[in-house]
Amino acid sequence: MTRPESGERILVTGAGGQLGKELVKLLNAKGIEVYGLTRNQLDITDCEEVHSLIDQISPTTVIHAAAYTQVDRAESEPEVAFRCNAIGTRNVAVAAARVGAKLVYLSTDYVFDGYGSSSYNEWSETSPINVYGQSKLAGEEFVQQHHNRFFIIRTSWVYGAHGNNFVKTMLKLGAEHGAVRVVEDQVGSPTYTYDLASTIIAMLKTEKYGLYHVSNTGHCSWFEFAQEIFKQAKMEVQVTPIPTSAMPRPAARPAYSVMEPFMLRLNDLPLLPSWQQALQHYLLNNHTD
Ligand SMILES: NC(=O)c1ccc[n+]([C@@H]2O[C@H](COP(=O)([O-])OP(=O)(O)OC[C@H]3O[C@@H](n4cnc5c(N)ncnc54)[C@H](OP(=O)(O)O)[C@@H]3O)[C@@H](O)[C@H]2O)c1
Repeated sequence: MTRPESGERILVTGAGGQLGKELVKLLNAKGIEVYGLTRNQLDITDCEEVHSLIDQISPTTVIHAAAYTQVDRAESEPEVAFRCNAIGTRNVAVAAARVGAKLVYLSTDYVFDGYGSSSYNEWSETSPINVYGQSKLAGEEFVQQHHNRFFIIRTSWVYGAHGNNFVKTMLKLGAEHGAVRVVEDQVGSPTYTYDLASTIIAMLKTEKYGLYHVSNTGHCSWFEFAQEIFKQAKMEVQVTPIPTSAMPRPAARPAYSVMEPFMLRLNDLPLLPSWQQALQHYLLNNHTD
């Protein structure tokens, strides 16, 4: 691959994922030169490959959306999770800094323990309660150590057109069984990849670097989210609230991981639409793959 001459060039890692696909689609639609690299094209844990490809493409921005996202499995293979989310992120951050590219790193509400009942802002203390959250926080630390023009974007409860997600699962289960049981004691903010990707692209045009909380506005429990999905989809489905303890899983989840978009407000950047509006947009466009 020969090094392109000039102009804006955006490299997206994890381009086969939920967010990565949405980013590549939106960037292409804007006519921006984009290099969306899937895991087969760029394995972020391979330090030499990361440096070689980022050197060749010489992007002006790297959006690092690749991650090990299997929250439960991470508990039994922490080394695999850390190799990707921490070391892989270090590799990307160092290579991006070397070519002078801005860096966007996606992080998560799971950096918080969720024990409280008030929202977290970007200065709230982190204290992850599962391996996935610990590994993503380690990634944040590597970004801060090795790069100085970065956006660290913590988001939550992601769904969208591409890949599997809670909305698709609910619609499928609701259609098949007419009834679902959903946890009511985990509260957070669902986030639609279209809104998240649009916000990232808008932020990139600025020099307003830093750590941001970026989710759709408002919050709900998974139970309330499921109720809203069926209401908007006009489906008669019985939704039964259950406690997390009724559905034990290997990884603990924060009970209340609502994130306040304090930095978006401080920097006069637009807040995302409400989670209900986002869901409506998603269901109306009803795009899947
Ligand atoms: N999903 C959520 O609810 C959520 C919530 C908060 C934050 N986030 C963060 O948001 C970002 C995007 O998440 P997402 O929902 O789009 O996740 P996703 O759909 O799981 O996509 C992640 C992508 O990264 C790829 N990947 C995994 N290991 C890799 C490696 N070693 N090298 C290169 N690529 C690798 C995956 O490929 P394979 O599929 O082949 O493994 C996948 O295509 C991630 O940083 C995630 O931690 C997500």
